[in-house]
Amino acid sequence: MTSTASPDSQFRTAVVPAAGLGTRFLPATKTVPKELLPVVDTPGIELIAEEATEAGAGRLAIVTSERKVGVMAHFADDPVLEGTLEDRGKDILLHKVRRAPGLIEVVDVRQDEPLGLGHAVAQVESVLDADEQAVAVLLPDDLVLPFGILRRMSAVRAERGGSVLCAFEVSPEEVSSYGVFKVEDTDDPAVKKVLGMVEKPAAEDAPSNLAAAGRYVLDRAIFDALRRITPG
Ligand code: UTP
Repeated sequence: MTSTASPDSQFRTAVVPAAGLGTRFLPATKTVPKELLPVVDTPGIELIAEEATEAGAGRLAIVTSERKVGVMAHFADDPVLEGTLEDRGKDILLHKVRRAPGLIEVVDVRQDEPLGLGHAVAQVESVLDADEQAVAVLLPDDLVLPFGILRRMSAVRAERGGSVLCAFEVSPEEVSSYGVFKVEDTDDPAVKKVLGMVEKPAAEDAPSNLAAAGRYVLDRAIFDALRRITPG
């Protein structure tokens, strides 16, 4: 199926890598995928789908493994549950249950082995239309609020081309927990040119105070780059 998206967006497909093992939240994630853990009463993946929809995506490609089938199930209709809620007049709950399936077209992309984030993203190329020049990637561990940053990133790509990565400022005590960008100024104080990135540097080795925030607008050239490296 050809994907649709809002005309001013640089991407139509939003990618959510969700095939990791989720070891940090064990034992909760032994049987419950991390992406289904709730933020108040809503699974994280539903908030991600909402963000992607608001950013203009027409399709959500969720990278899953055999262990993560429940993530896709959250976006499927449930006629028995919906029928019961309808019969009982539980309209508010019915609306909540129908929300995820109605948000966006969702595509399941399989990563058979957890060979890393790059390898997970690489699997999505097979479902893209030939004319899709960029994709958005949303890491479901990071909630970026308020929504709107992906639209801003799309505008930066429209103006300057290439891939656009989201960064936020962290203190020197925090840099060692993040991927930290080496950057150069541009004519816009909110936009930096990325020269490199250091994963979890010591405070004294950090090239800046700008940490990666799990939102990317990636040029299609990323798939060629991923083919040139060894997954792991
Ligand atoms: P993380 O490094 O946070 O991995 O991956 P993880 O397995 O989910 O978490 P921990 O560290 O074991 O708790 C960042 C994102 O990339 C996905 C993860 O699902 C997560 O959303 N990922 C990672 C994949 O899709 N496949 C992989 O092989 C690795």
